[in-house]
Amino acid sequence: MERMLGRVLVIVPTYNERENLPMITRRLREAVPEAHLLVVDDDSPDGTGAVADKLVADDDHVHVLHRPGGKQGLGAAYIAGFRWGLGEGFGVLVEMDADGSHRPEELPKLLDRLTRGADLAIGSRWVPGGKVVNWPASREFLSRGANVYTRFMLGLPVRDATAGFRAYRAATLEKIGLEDVESQGYCFQVDLTLRTVRNGLRVTEVPITFVDRTIGTSKMGRGVVVEAFWRVAAWGVMGLPARLRRRRGR
Ligand code: GDD
Ligand code: MN
Repeated sequence: MERMLGRVLVIVPTYNERENLPMITRRLREAVPEAHLLVVDDDSPDGTGAVADKLVADDDHVHVLHRPGGKQGLGAAYIAGFRWGLGEGFGVLVEMDADGSHRPEELPKLLDRLTRGADLAIGSRWVPGGKVVNWPASREFLSRGANVYTRFMLGLPVRDATAGFRAYRAATLEKIGLEDVESQGYCFQVDLTLRTVRNGLRVTEVPITFVDRTIGTSKMGRGVVVEAFWRVAAWGVMGLPARLRRRRGR
């Protein structure tokens, strides 16, 4: 079934991505010219905000949200971006990193899945055809481990629940409710995947090639891992009765 998508907004959170931002902007604008870009900057000390202002001045498809108060987490940045995009009437809201790990050239594949009826399309590293390039073994182990743990705790029918390259229909975000999302770090990704599945919406995974950044550093820290560990455990326990009921019903 073909469904109308509406206008596309690609949200890119930034924290110290001064050198990456012009590169990712140019690539996105070339790969999907009709899409708009929203930079959500947490007052980066390296001046990413000023770089964003310059890009906004040069291109009417580029927008920026300056969040005062310093680094507040990936999840919080995306929620602010979603709110802005829904308010502006965009029909599709995309999550993408600033560092080139998510290739804008692969975005059409994700949008295509929405056109065919998916409510959330995830760019996945861990389905057949998906790849990771230049990641240290320790980081690959962490990502695979996180996904095994998540599947075990939550029973999600998704291979890459922590993936950060994804496209949501606006209706999906409206239905799952963003008001009570507490996740601040990267477990935000698992949180929204879980909400989408539990609302009975359709999630599909598209194989992508994830290329590790060449400029700047990852913001993934211990706090992010610890938060994810406990939140996923808590969601698992809270969802257990429903899971058992479904199993018995089979
Ligand atoms: N505004 C804002 N605030 N942006 C942030 C923050 C924050 O607190 N933390 C990170 N970012 C931005 C970065 O600047 C980058 O554009 C993007 O969010 C992703 O951060 P990275 O630090 O590059 O993430 P990563 O490469 O380690 O992790 C990737 O893989 C994870 C799963 O393994 C990302 O794609 C994650 O989304 C994903 O969960
Ligand atoms: Mn990255």
